[in-house]
Amino acid sequence: MLDKIESIKIEAHSEADKISNETSLEEFRLKYLSRNGLVSSLFEELKKVDKESKGELGKNLNEMKIFLQRIYDKKKEQFDSALKNSEDLTDLTLPGRTYNKGSKHLITQALEEISGIFERIGFNVYEGFEIEDEYHNFDALNTPDYHPSRDMQDTFYIDSKGKDKQYLLRTQTSPGQIRVMEQMQPPVRVIVPGKCYRNEAVNSRSLAVFHQVEGLYVDKKVTFRELKGTLNYFAKEFFGENLKTRLRPSFFPFTEPSAEMDVECYLCKGQGCRICKYTGWLEIMGCGMVDPNVFKMVGYDPEVYSGYAFGMGIERTLLVKHGIPDIRLFYENDIRFLKQF
Ligand code: DAH
Repeated sequence: MLDKIESIKIEAHSEADKISNETSLEEFRLKYLSRNGLVSSLFEELKKVDKESKGELGKNLNEMKIFLQRIYDKKKEQFDSALKNSEDLTDLTLPGRTYNKGSKHLITQALEEISGIFERIGFNVYEGFEIEDEYHNFDALNTPDYHPSRDMQDTFYIDSKGKDKQYLLRTQTSPGQIRVMEQMQPPVRVIVPGKCYRNEAVNSRSLAVFHQVEGLYVDKKVTFRELKGTLNYFAKEFFGENLKTRLRPSFFPFTEPSAEMDVECYLCKGQGCRICKYTGWLEIMGCGMVDPNVFKMVGYDPEVYSGYAFGMGIERTLLVKHGIPDIRLFYENDIRFLKQF
């Protein structure tokens, strides 16, 4: 048995030199020091040895156990400290982490840009209410009961049982005009940007939620020429110098006379194509001179004051500006689309 101990010592010594990683260290432990390892089995054998040699053999066996344990502990310590050092090292060749920066949505950017264009020529921004009452959204805007836009098909009415008025989600930013005129006397120069809601079938050209920017200017002797000049200034600032514009007669209950502003089609540059239905023009806003009936509703004297108003659809306007083919893209949150703006 003494020979066995000696030869195990020699073997373990040479194996210790070959321990190069955690795995071989673990193999070493299993072979010699674990519960089923060589040291344990020799202690088992020791039980069977006769009394005289037990003392001597036991001593040798214990020394061997300590010897092997030392080898193990030393190696273990080496590996642990190597691991710790490697964790402290910073690999300067690693590529840095990139952070995705958020940015403003295209619509928010447009609302801010349009507000800025009008603020530069003296307009103030008013926000209005998204939940409006029938009076401000329709009656005060000279839109009678029988007008088709008051139909359940177009307007989201809010259950107003027990309320003093019928409430709805505003279908246009125009009620903002009324709110402003109720609160202040001319001269008035405001724009009202914000969300509007209509019970529309969703398709590539229309959505149930969309944005408008309303404009209103009231003073003594305001003329249609000023309206035209202001809108042309806006179009040049927003679309650039080169896009042609035109005003075309139209009808709105709250303006008289009324017009619609068209800009040259972005795709065919006025030649006529599918997008512009072969007219060469795309409609971006309604406008006109404030109807005297509207002035009467807010207590302005139509004999003294005149004014112009306009309202543009933001999504529509952006389709024209950037050549976006489908209005639904604005709300799909597809990062590949949003990143372009
Ligand atoms: N409110 C109209 C709409 O939603 C747009 C509009 C037309 C606004 C003419 C105006 C205006 O202020 O004068 O279709």
